[in-house]
Amino acid sequence: MERLPERIRKLLGDAPFETDAIGMSGAGIRLYPDAVLKIARDDAVARQEAGIMAWLRGKLPVPEVLACEREGGRQYLLMTRLSGKMLCDSAVLGDAENVTRLLAQALVMVGSVDIRDCPYRADLDAELAIAREHVERGEVDVENTDPATFAPGGFRDPEHLLLWLEENRPREERRFTHGDMCLPNILTENGRITGFIDLGGAGVGDPYRDYAIARRSLHDNTDGPHGHASPGFDADRLFKYLGISPDGEKMRYFALLDELF
Ligand SMILES: Nc1ncnc2c1ncn2[C@@H]1O[C@H](COP(=O)(O)OP(=O)(O)O)[C@@H](O)[C@H]1O
Ligand SMILES: [Mg+2]
Repeated sequence: MERLPERIRKLLGDAPFETDAIGMSGAGIRLYPDAVLKIARDDAVARQEAGIMAWLRGKLPVPEVLACEREGGRQYLLMTRLSGKMLCDSAVLGDAENVTRLLAQALVMVGSVDIRDCPYRADLDAELAIAREHVERGEVDVENTDPATFAPGGFRDPEHLLLWLEENRPREERRFTHGDMCLPNILTENGRITGFIDLGGAGVGDPYRDYAIARRSLHDNTDGPHGHASPGFDADRLFKYLGISPDGEKMRYFALLDELF
């Protein structure tokens, strides 16, 4: 079993834990009765997560940071465990209309955070720079993209997509954004949103960042690659709850940008 940094080991003692296999980032998650230990590659996004969580305390329901250690190229983030079920939990997902309402509520909560003293940037200058790093290091997981993105009529390869994104930047708005607003990163209890997790990519950026990922996650979980809880469900109903008619080109742009993350 992996040896933990001493400070974390002292805090946890020999408490029992379960592991979690939901995340996509390759992070190792240990669920303790009252705490969660997230073990991730010590990269720029991981390094921001504890600071963002601390900045968000009192602004959004997020875990409290208990300790954060870096050792051997890994980051060990120990935080409080939030109660509630993920929006992708089968017990929640059974009612697609309700999940959609909750997801819209989550987007409004995140977009309402006051950004005046927010030091975390997630605008296109910042995001395209990270995307370029991923492309140049060969880290884009092409297997994990929409089949149409890198197909005839789409983009040749990640470099081609990156150049298109750099040359076709939409006009940006500034709002607080989560950065990975998918159903497993949002918790609910008693019909309300009770928690946000996986915050390493959060910061001031365009709200379509979150709209694009939220819509795709709703689609993928209701009638797509992650399950068919509600065959034929129209994920665009999300925008009815948000009270907006989305800008289709911006939706496409931000969905494509996420393919490089
Ligand atoms: N503080 C927490 N409280 C409750 N559950 C958590 C917490 N942190 C993580 N989890 C659970 O572990 C899963 C993966 O954690 P997450 O931070 O999203 O990692 P990844 O980057 O791998 O997606 C979450 O979807 C959630 O089910
Ligand atoms: Mg996650």
